[in-house]
Amino acid sequence: MTRIVVGNWKMHETSAQASVLARGIAAALADEPRSATVVLAPPFTALEAVRKSIHGTHLVLGAQTMHWADEGAFTGEISPPMLLELGVRYVILGHSERRRYCGEVDAEINRKVRAALGHGLVPIVAVGESEQERDAGITDERVTAQIRAAFEGVAATDLRNAVVAYEPVWAIGTGRNCDPQEADRVMGTIRASIPGLESTPFLYGGSVSPANFASYLARANCQGGLVGGASLDSASFAQLVHLAERGT
Ligand code: 13P
Repeated sequence: MTRIVVGNWKMHETSAQASVLARGIAAALADEPRSATVVLAPPFTALEAVRKSIHGTHLVLGAQTMHWADEGAFTGEISPPMLLELGVRYVILGHSERRRYCGEVDAEINRKVRAALGHGLVPIVAVGESEQERDAGITDERVTAQIRAAFEGVAATDLRNAVVAYEPVWAIGTGRNCDPQEADRVMGTIRASIPGLESTPFLYGGSVSPANFASYLARANCQGGLVGGASLDSASFAQLVHLAERGT
């Protein structure tokens, strides 16, 4: 399976800053043809600038969320056709920060996932347990419930057009990355929870760094990473891409 490295820039980089970062990443990765898929997901306001900066490279544009409707009275929201018009091909859905700070719930995430697939956008569906859920021993229950809800009503044959990201909430931005063997076990559990996920790429996310990424990539259930902090530095992000391309 092709490996995928996604840079989730979160609410970082103005349009001008994003151009500089995207050009820096493109320059750092200009040395060879890409065997991995490399996705940059800047804030909405920087999509156009990043699109221009990566034009003619192998880098691909992603978004951090979207609404499910094509258009309508949804103040502040962005629709799938709006993203497609800007050249976006991947969209992160159900990120724990959206769930936590923006009140996104499973049923909405499901509508978004179906809308993305319907428009030919690749949804990167993020699931993960909180620290309390892990301590309570309900990690597997939590992530399988999230994934089943996200893909409810999606045909098994469409699941190969999606990406799943396992991001334990307690590992995000904390420097406490999940033990790779445990991450692999949880990803295996998620993969087995719905028929059709066998050929879906799975990403690990949560304090991914050049020092730990290879140990996730070495696991059977991991095809790449969903990266926050380390994606904001062109040299470390390029290192992650090079690790993903090693041995493929
Ligand atoms: P960090 O890599 O900064 O932990 O963020 C992970 C994440 O939330 C990516 O979506």
